Amino acid sequence: VTQPLPLSAKPHLPSAEAILAYLRHIDGNRWYSNFGPLVREFEARLEERFPSQPGSIVTVASGTAGLTLALQSFDIRPSVCLLPSWTFVASAAAVKNAGLIPYFIDVDPESWQLTPALVRRSLETVKEVGAVVVVAPFGAPVDLAAWAAVAHETNISVVVDSAAGFDTARAHPRLVSVVSLHATKVLGVGEGGFILAGTSDRADKLRRMSNFGLNSAHQSIYPATNAKLSEYAAAVGLAALDEWPKSRSDLLERAEAYRAQITSRKLFDDLDCPAEVHASTTFNIILRRPLADEVVAFMRRDGLGARKIWGEGCHGHPTFKDCACGDLAITDKLIRHVLALPFWIDMTNLEMASVADCLASFFHGRLANWDRPRKRQSAHSR
Ligand SMILES: Cc1ncc(COP(=O)(O)O)c(C=O)c1O
Repeated sequence: VTQPLPLSAKPHLPSAEAILAYLRHIDGNRWYSNFGPLVREFEARLEERFPSQPGSIVTVASGTAGLTLALQSFDIRPSVCLLPSWTFVASAAAVKNAGLIPYFIDVDPESWQLTPALVRRSLETVKEVGAVVVVAPFGAPVDLAAWAAVAHETNISVVVDSAAGFDTARAHPRLVSVVSLHATKVLGVGEGGFILAGTSDRADKLRRMSNFGLNSAHQSIYPATNAKLSEYAAAVGLAALDEWPKSRSDLLERAEAYRAQITSRKLFDDLDCPAEVHASTTFNIILRRPLADEVVAFMRRDGLGARKIWGEGCHGHPTFKDCACGDLAITDKLIRHVLALPFWIDMTNLEMASVADCLASFFHGRLANWDRPRKRQSAHSR
């Protein structure tokens, strides 16, 4: 009998009632995909939130599809794409799907993302670089002006993987950013995403690329796929946008409550629990010692699903293990020190307390002999 995995997330999308009015529009329109009225309304409302040229936001079937199309839209000849290994494997999959060769480089120890300085240093030794994917880790803000300057200076295409960045992403005329609308993100539709294309011309091209590359004469003129968002997903997206101000403040409030619980256990010598400045569905702590695997195993025995959310990094995945990479010392450190705790938008104080108690018990009580057999406690029994 396989044990169910302990809970690490409980995604929360709009209820059936909240979506219903939008679904009724679909019934009335009898238009189910192919840039229908709900997709257009959703894109228009996204434009209000992410001010940009009219028509420059393109919805897509997933963040990964959006990243792949974004890279392909630059018509880069087959070449190297620099990206961090400290990311979800989707970033690297998109690079390969776009016909580019991934080359993993290290991230900045403070921001956990690529910096222009790190990329410029890599360009001194790595040849044939055609693109850079900058990842906004867990939705952290990215310095778009600095990356636009890099793109301008080097003529290298820069795509921002802002998959978890619904709260922080911004449009920039020189850059393309991609946001995921996966169920696990702060604003989810199930599967989906959107591209902040920067200009309406690039958006027009991306829209065609998401629809077999077809032009108005129904001729396929671009390398393409089918990556359109359906009207049903747009209905969920519209309902999710209605709820966004509340979901945003709930996520921030719950994260702050979690932080208070953890800091009250006086674990300052063992971990850091930085304040959340943007809404996120990932709640990370930073262990002072490289004990991520041990804490995951310890918490699992209490039925608590802490995770090394990006596993061993992209370069740890079999598909990418043969890819070239620079020095990844910071990435390797983050892999062993960063832990995503179980977290969801309506996590109760009691549930948070049980996680904080478990951490305290690992560090204060049983660090030396944590793997000795002991009685299993339920997350809700305290
Ligand atoms: C950093 C990063 N990039 C890309 C993606 C892919 O997004 P999607 O799941 O919508 O394809 C994710 C998804 O979690 C992600 O975390």
